[in-house]
Amino acid sequence: MNATPPTTDSTDQPSAAELQDSLVATARHLQRIGVLHLPAGDAAAGSQWFDQLAAPVASQAPVASQGPVAVEGVPAAAPPAAAPAAPAAAPPAAAANPASAAAPAAVPDGEANTPYPPSLPIADRETQLAQLAAQVAGCVRCDELVCYRKQTVFGEGNPQARVAFFGEAPGADEDRQGRPFVGRAGQLLTKMIEACTLRREDVYILNTLKCRPPENRNPLPHELDNCRSYFEAQFNLIQPEYIVCLGLFAAQSLLRSKLSVGRLRGRFHAYHNSKVLVTYHPSYLLRTASAKRLAWEDLQIMMADMGIRR
Ligand code: URA
Repeated sequence: MNATPPTTDSTDQPSAAELQDSLVATARHLQRIGVLHLPAGDAAAGSQWFDQLAAPVASQAPVASQGPVAVEGVPAAAPPAAAPAAPAAAPPAAAANPASAAAPAAVPDGEANTPYPPSLPIADRETQLAQLAAQVAGCVRCDELVCYRKQTVFGEGNPQARVAFFGEAPGADEDRQGRPFVGRAGQLLTKMIEACTLRREDVYILNTLKCRPPENRNPLPHELDNCRSYFEAQFNLIQPEYIVCLGLFAAQSLLRSKLSVGRLRGRFHAYHNSKVLVTYHPSYLLRTASAKRLAWEDLQIMMADMGIRR
């Protein structure tokens, strides 16, 4: 007799051991594709993003953080950058020796999982950032950009920032003023920062490229390579707890990834000790209102992890 086995019986249920194997395999998969922390954010309020952006900045109400869910085998997260900085054992190479930053740094594979160099006291950070800014101002690595720029746009903000916002390249307004994100996209970025109950002066803002590309064209691969050692030196000095990559070029450069923003967003990645979140560029959000809800969901992942509740 050809008895058909029943479709559901107790043998269809995975055993505890099978469940555990499956969880371990999933965790290993997430780790392989670069997920460092599984966020515990509540993104339900995403559709109200506009209202929340328009609302006055609420007083910051820290709540006890659940803490990130670490994926097996990945080093623990860094302590908050705002904590008192330990005296430096050795300054970051590029900033300590401006001459060495003249050549783009060769960064070994796996950099994402190596810790930052020892952090510097605040006064030294400021000094070294100022030295690096002076070096950037005289940079002539990219022939076309040197001819086209009015000035370089180094970046600005709190050298002890917990959060750094990492954009693409200066536009016309930034090129004129020498400051990042001061045009229309910058106004939206300021609202995004305030929606997180932060202020612009609390965070650090920088770009992958320090010079405006002609007619705001996309950064070219050799330009991204040429500028890499500058943003790496900035991150080494500031050591933010969180880096928010705004758009494709920031995300792909920092994470050395070829994936789209859509594939990278919605979870944390790692860059040294920083937790990296990828979201849409404010310029894209100005053109694509439907993406604002997703960007707000991304920011809420960070807020929940920071222990900030609106
Ligand atoms: N877009 C960017 O990516 N950076 C700026 O500074 C301004 C606009």
